[in-house]
Amino acid sequence: MTVAAVVFDLYGTILTIESMRAHVAAAGVVDADAFVADWRRKQIEYAFITTLANAYRDFDQLTALALEFTCAERNAALDANARAQLVDAWQTMPAYDDVAPALHALAARDIPRAVLTNGTPTSARAALAASGILDVLTDVLSVDAVRAFKPDPRVYALATARFACAPNEIVFVSSNAWDAWGAANFGFRVAWCNRAGRTHEALTPPPEVHLRGLHELAAFV
Ligand code: LAC
Repeated sequence: MTVAAVVFDLYGTILTIESMRAHVAAAGVVDADAFVADWRRKQIEYAFITTLANAYRDFDQLTALALEFTCAERNAALDANARAQLVDAWQTMPAYDDVAPALHALAARDIPRAVLTNGTPTSARAALAASGILDVLTDVLSVDAVRAFKPDPRVYALATARFACAPNEIVFVSSNAWDAWGAANFGFRVAWCNRAGRTHEALTPPPEVHLRGLHELAAFV
């Protein structure tokens, strides 16, 4: 099977959301791990809701609103300045150690390497540049172009449009099980990058491939 491109989710797949824990703890929040998990869940929930309601607001705004909600719900007294700093920290989120070697291996084989993200183009590119990954990618595609979030099929269609290919010529890699399924539903070949050993979703069929990290990607592509 031809591979037109390998397309990666960004947050949680290339960039390590767990790194937010240190920022949250430094801001004085207790139980920072649970706080970050709640913040992320709410951010994704807001993305689903705004897409279903056809009421798009960009991911930076949803990240800020989800933080505001999480602070209120968990009684974390962070002022607007502290919250803004936490939202800005998404722009310097580091990459996992297995990302650069996997991308360089694809580059050595001349296989295009893209990110397809819920993130805004500005924030996504800033974080990728800060983590030294931007230069190894061929494309950064953002949902901003269609004003809907994953797993809306219009988002995955950005990749087939960019690479002028059929869905089954794209290999898609995501750590988010719902994103992996959305991409498979669109027709991509999908690897679920499950570094954290999460439980498979009961809602959807298992992904074609289950990776424990991007060091295992070469065996699939
Ligand atoms: C992204 C989110 C879903 O980068 O992690 O698209």
